[in-house]
Amino acid sequence: MATSMVTFVFLSVTIFISIFPATSSSAALDKGFLKCFQTILGADNTTSGVIFTKSSSSYEPLLKSTIRNARFLKSSVPKPNLIVTPHSLFHIQVALLCSKKSGLQVRVRSGGHDYEGLSYVSNVPFLIIDLVNLRSITINMDEESAWVQSGATVGELYYAIAKRSKVHGFPAGSCSTMGVGGHFSGGGFGTIFRKYGLASDNVIDAEMIDVNGKILNRTLMGEDLFWAIRGGGGSSFGVITAWKIKLVSVPSTVTAFDVSRSLDQGATNLLHKWQTIAPKLPAELFLHTVVGVSNSASQIGKTVVVSFSGLYLGTAENLLPVMQNSFTELGLQSNNFTQMTWIQSVLYFAGFSIDESLEVLLRRNQTSSSFKAKSDYVKDPIPLSGLEGLWKILLLENSPLLILTPYGGIMSEISESEIPFPHRKGNLYGIQYSVNLVSNEEAPKHMDWIRRLYAYMKPYVSKLPRQAYLNYRDLDLGLNQGNSGYEKAKTWGLKYFNNNFESLARVKARVDPGNFFRDEQSIPPL
Ligand SMILES: Cc1cc2nc3c(=O)[nH]c(=O)nc-3n(C[C@H](O)[C@H](O)[C@H](O)COP(=O)(O)OP(=O)(O)OC[C@H]3O[C@@H](n4cnc5c(N)ncnc54)[C@H](O)[C@@H]3O)c2cc1C
Ligand SMILES: *[C@@H]1O[C@H](CO)[C@@H](O)[C@H](O)[C@H]1NC(C)=O
Ligand SMILES: *[C@@H]1O[C@H](CO)[C@@H](O)[C@H](O)[C@H]1NC(C)=O
Ligand SMILES: *[C@@H]1O[C@H](CO)[C@@H](O)[C@H](O)[C@H]1NC(C)=O
Ligand SMILES: *[C@@H]1O[C@H](CO)[C@@H](O)[C@H](O)[C@H]1NC(C)=O
Repeated sequence: MATSMVTFVFLSVTIFISIFPATSSSAALDKGFLKCFQTILGADNTTSGVIFTKSSSSYEPLLKSTIRNARFLKSSVPKPNLIVTPHSLFHIQVALLCSKKSGLQVRVRSGGHDYEGLSYVSNVPFLIIDLVNLRSITINMDEESAWVQSGATVGELYYAIAKRSKVHGFPAGSCSTMGVGGHFSGGGFGTIFRKYGLASDNVIDAEMIDVNGKILNRTLMGEDLFWAIRGGGGSSFGVITAWKIKLVSVPSTVTAFDVSRSLDQGATNLLHKWQTIAPKLPAELFLHTVVGVSNSASQIGKTVVVSFSGLYLGTAENLLPVMQNSFTELGLQSNNFTQMTWIQSVLYFAGFSIDESLEVLLRRNQTSSSFKAKSDYVKDPIPLSGLEGLWKILLLENSPLLILTPYGGIMSEISESEIPFPHRKGNLYGIQYSVNLVSNEEAPKHMDWIRRLYAYMKPYVSKLPRQAYLNYRDLDLGLNQGNSGYEKAKTWGLKYFNNNFESLARVKARVDPGNFFRDEQSIPPL
């Protein structure tokens, strides 16, 4: 899009901004924003279908449409003054300009899956730029690449790829409703990441709009900014409007399995073994574990249940000897395996039946519960005594859920500074802890439980810093306070980014020195 038009817009608006000072009331901010937007769009252009105010009947359904953590549906949670749903990049440019001028803070939302709701919650007057209308996907089969707009979900991307090829895929996460805007900018891992790396490892170009309203591609943004948005989180640097990705090869037949063991079936020893086996398996084999409690499983009452769930990029026949040789104790046989296509494995890990029509991947609606999650990285196997102590804590809760994701494979070969996501060599596995908060009344009890669990795990996980995964956002790790800077932000910044945090803060200083794009855990300029 023409840079000249943008320049024109910026010049013409500078003149009338001075009408509304930054200290205006919330309503005045809205008015200022709307007037600014309408003025730029011109008399023939309406904002209907683009800007939704609180008085619009679409405002509430739109706001709720992608809230994936019901904790943030409560009426006490601050709501945006306005929701902008751009139909073009031009609308985003105008929205940025007018929010800057009117003093409304901006939150950008793609799929809305942020664990702490940062894409749609703020304590200061703000608006949401929701990219729901920008979700085209263009696949170039000759180049084995695709351009995917940020508002698309990973389900829509997997679907689009499968419609073109049975032997291509993309290494992103399992939940089909995640937006590629947030997911790719924070890393993004799934069932084939030990073979191909993270979603952001497979991004080859990007289109974004910076704080000055300029549309940038990889060449124009510079390699430092292109580096930063692949794992450093999008929300600190601008509005990412599209990613160009490299498709990866998948075989025409893959094999999945999912078997569970309770404590009386030897789950403790199996999980203890799993810790050293899973990270060393061939990169084609992903074997994660999901740990929960069951109230019904056996006559012994409440017990911990560990499920071992795997995806192999190959046939059941080839998988069998791998499992029997490397993990004899699990006792898997051919009939424990299900062969399927890669896209069926996407359904499988997204929680659908593999016989469902692929169109379920296009659904954007999803039930949401109220939850709190946290994450860790494990570098040395947890001893049996540590696991036994962990079970005692899990058994105190009704709905604890731990997902243990094995690293290794290509993840150990990519350098820690290749992109901002630093969790590479030396990690056996990552842990995600989560708990259902059930209700407002019960929430504090469950919050307290998960924090005690996190405290218990300290001796067993990465130290100095205790590392965490940005896409499992956790505000307990620390908050930006006002304009407090880099040193304070290190408390959470080093956990997510380790040695890459400083570089991120330098990129931030170059591209957004005024800290326009900010939230509770955005990168401060250094
Ligand atoms: C049910 C569920 C399952 C999950 N499973 C996985 C998984 O398998 N693997 C995994 O790696 N992660 C997983 N996650 C975590 C997920 O990767 C993150 O929540 C991710 O940030 C979601 O992206 P989004 O676009 O949906 O979120 P949003 O809430 O829209 O955005 C997240 C953050 O990115 C910013 N952002 C969003 N879009 C843009 C943009 N276009 N430009 C600039 N900034 C932007 C937002 O402002 C916010 O700070 C899961 C989350 C949930 C809720
Ligand atoms: C509205 O503005 C956009 C962007 O300038 C332009 O492309 C479009 O043609 C305009 N529509 C009308 C009806 O003027
Ligand atoms: C980026 O945009 C510039 C200016 O429009 C263009 O010359 C260049 O070819 C683009 N780069 C890529 C990789 O598309
Ligand atoms: C694997 O298959 C066997 C034979 O059908 C079955 O008995 C066993 O329960 C299965 N194993 C698991 C762990 O589910
Ligand atoms: C989503 O919509 C589909 C189709 O309308 C419906 O069948 C499904 O039950 C809905 N799912 C949820 C979680 O609301």
